[in-house]
Amino acid sequence: MNIALIGFGVVGQGFVEALHKKSMQLQDEHSFSAQVVAVTTRSRGALYHPDGLDLQALLETGGGPLADYPDTDGLQRDLSTMQIITESNAHVIVELAYSNLETGQPAIDHVKAAFNASKHVVLANKGPVALAFAELNALAAEKGVQFLYEATVMAGTPSLQLAQQAMRGTTIFSVRGILNGTTNYILTRMEAGMPYAAALAESQEKGYAEADPTADVDGWDAAGKVLILAGALFGKTLTFDDMDVQGIAHLMPEDIETAAAAGERYKLIAEATPDGGSVKPVRLPVSNPLAGVGGATNAITLSTDLMGDVTLIGAGAGKLETGFAILSDILLIHDRTK
Ligand code: HSE
Repeated sequence: MNIALIGFGVVGQGFVEALHKKSMQLQDEHSFSAQVVAVTTRSRGALYHPDGLDLQALLETGGGPLADYPDTDGLQRDLSTMQIITESNAHVIVELAYSNLETGQPAIDHVKAAFNASKHVVLANKGPVALAFAELNALAAEKGVQFLYEATVMAGTPSLQLAQQAMRGTTIFSVRGILNGTTNYILTRMEAGMPYAAALAESQEKGYAEADPTADVDGWDAAGKVLILAGALFGKTLTFDDMDVQGIAHLMPEDIETAAAAGERYKLIAEATPDGGSVKPVRLPVSNPLAGVGGATNAITLSTDLMGDVTLIGAGAGKLETGFAILSDILLIHDRTK
């Protein structure tokens, strides 16, 4: 399978590292082998080699300029992102550029161009899935290609595969949980006495926060994930205007102390139902499973008819954790197209 990466930041490097580490195992257990044939970035150059790039050399560029990748016969450095999408020999386009939750662009155009070129698409970029889900889903179906986005909600923790595959046959009434690692990390550190700004800086250093962390702290990143869940689980097209969205920036250390004294914790709770969605800080008793979820960890509770409540807890952000989500979707494409 030939893969092209649009974007080569934390998640792209995590994916290449996971693919590199696991290549023998993937070959042995799943008869799966893949080449990364192209990498394209906004400001650090592009690489295309139809026979595949050297993963170790790619990792050694360390997220710096791709000019540092060694020259080899047949290597091209001057293709645009659109040329790589439409003209390369990639079977799968992986859209990893930063999430623009206002317009979804240029990633929406990238995804459409890939579908029109009969290529599968895997995304960690939330913009297109949150803002153009119905249209992209329909186009993928029309073109007979896969449109997968596990990384967009809870990184490699299989929230979407759980709901869409394992829980088929149940009726899901609602999904409710902690969908933003940065804010959960900040709240956890504030409970331990760290000031808000220091906790935010720490979550940025660890690579959890968005390029513009106001998207995290004001609730918009979690709200984007609610839009994705509403589309993917309920076939419901929501917009940000349909939702009550609040963040954590207004929470003071004294609010957190007052809650703790009452045996409660603040959590930024996101919810999607067939009728709508919301994101807001909620005081939960410490006995609630979601209250026990600390750090950058995420969790969702699916409320269903046949299974009652099912809660899934796991990583919601991080380099290898999100890189794994891409790998997991690519393996799903491998299974579905054999
Ligand atoms: N900024 C996001 C978070 C990254 O903190 O959860 C994962 O979507």
